[in-house]
Amino acid sequence: MEVFRIQGGARLAGQVQITGAKNSSLKLMAAALLAPGKTVIHAVPNILDVTIMAELLRRLGCKVEYDEAKQAVSIEVPQTIEHRADYDLVRRMRASIAVLGPLVARTGEADVALPGGDAIGSRGLDMHTAGLERMGAVVTNEHGYLVVHAPTGGLVGTALYLDFPSVGATETLLMAGVTANGVTVIDNAAREPEIVDICNMLVAMGAAISGIGGSLLTVTGVDSLHAVEYTTVSDRIVAGTWAVAAAITQGDITVNNVNPSHLSIVLEKLATAGATVEVFENSFRVQMDRRPTAVDIVTLPYPGFPTDLQPQFIALNSIAEGSAMVTENLFEARFRFVQELTRLGAEVRTDGHHALIRGRSKLSGAPVEATDIRAGAGLVLAGLVADGETTVHAVEHIDRGYVNFEKELVELGATVVRETST
Ligand code: EPU
Repeated sequence: MEVFRIQGGARLAGQVQITGAKNSSLKLMAAALLAPGKTVIHAVPNILDVTIMAELLRRLGCKVEYDEAKQAVSIEVPQTIEHRADYDLVRRMRASIAVLGPLVARTGEADVALPGGDAIGSRGLDMHTAGLERMGAVVTNEHGYLVVHAPTGGLVGTALYLDFPSVGATETLLMAGVTANGVTVIDNAAREPEIVDICNMLVAMGAAISGIGGSLLTVTGVDSLHAVEYTTVSDRIVAGTWAVAAAITQGDITVNNVNPSHLSIVLEKLATAGATVEVFENSFRVQMDRRPTAVDIVTLPYPGFPTDLQPQFIALNSIAEGSAMVTENLFEARFRFVQELTRLGAEVRTDGHHALIRGRSKLSGAPVEATDIRAGAGLVLAGLVADGETTVHAVEHIDRGYVNFEKELVELGATVVRETST
């Protein structure tokens, strides 16, 4: 087990370079299953989840190689693939569910272990399965596995309406629809940049999708797709985390290789908090020269405020001038980290999916534990401004979303070391 030992008080300044989004790369790797041949995906971050997805694809019959230096993954997909995603891998990473759509599309069947809930909430699959059923599949739950059988002749395109614009369900149904018979219409689809990314890759593979970027996606089934070479969209959540790092430390950070329009609402909130935000074509700069003003946040599907930046903003509000209300609408257990934040002296009261934060003029360093990736990021940010030393435990969670986090923090002027905990 490793920890980050952080000495608070440094002002962060400098430049960071953003690479491909975890939450896109993993789905793009799964999408490769849709076409036999060698697909190469660039800008894939070197994180454990990529290793897990690579292993899952290998078990399905693919040859997978990750080139760390080039951050590229090559996936050789055979003509015939297996259709079972084992519990031992799926339980380690919820994103494994991304293979569900491709498996049904390619093989007509899928046995995928149920990923279950995790630290941020219950995370159902009902919209994934209801959509597949509407397309003619028979879905059962057997011995902890979701067992799906497409009708003879394959899935049949139809009109689908999602109760909620779920990222995962939109991805499953898109990938199920690309080679289905006829037209699949997904209404109330998710519009996240990562959804646009997978649509663009599928189109490059030969899929026919219209309405990309909107909430009505029309997928006209084609006979087959072909392997491609594709580059993952930049990680807007990592970029947003650096933006908050600049604001919370009263620093000055330029974030490169990112599409600032993916973070419009986030940058707007930072400007409201008192930051000077400059937006360029593929980068942005956040400067802060005073104590931030507290800002209210309501998490919503894109283009609303991302839940994956909610803990970082609670950290920001905890040292801000004034009080703020943060409302979490996606994952009910995401406030679990608040308990850890209060160890640093933050004044936060939660009630259901609302958190009321009363800004304190200072936090005080203490040992805390990361409960998930974003909670971990929020705790590191708080540690950067807490008096004295903050030790963040369970950094393996942080490593799942932030490559070389502590090295980049040090380059920007922070005092952070990674140590093995005793
Ligand atoms: N939901 C259902 N039924 C479904 C599908 C979703 O009830 O069939 C609910 C979920 O329980 C949740 C809400 O709908 O309350 C939103 O879930 P969604 O499907 O949109 O999220 P996801 O695909 O499970 C992805 C990211 C999350 C990110 C969310 C929202 C990946 C691997 N994960 O999750 O990222 O927070 O979209 O943007 O892409 C993270 O990176 O830290 C992370 C948790």
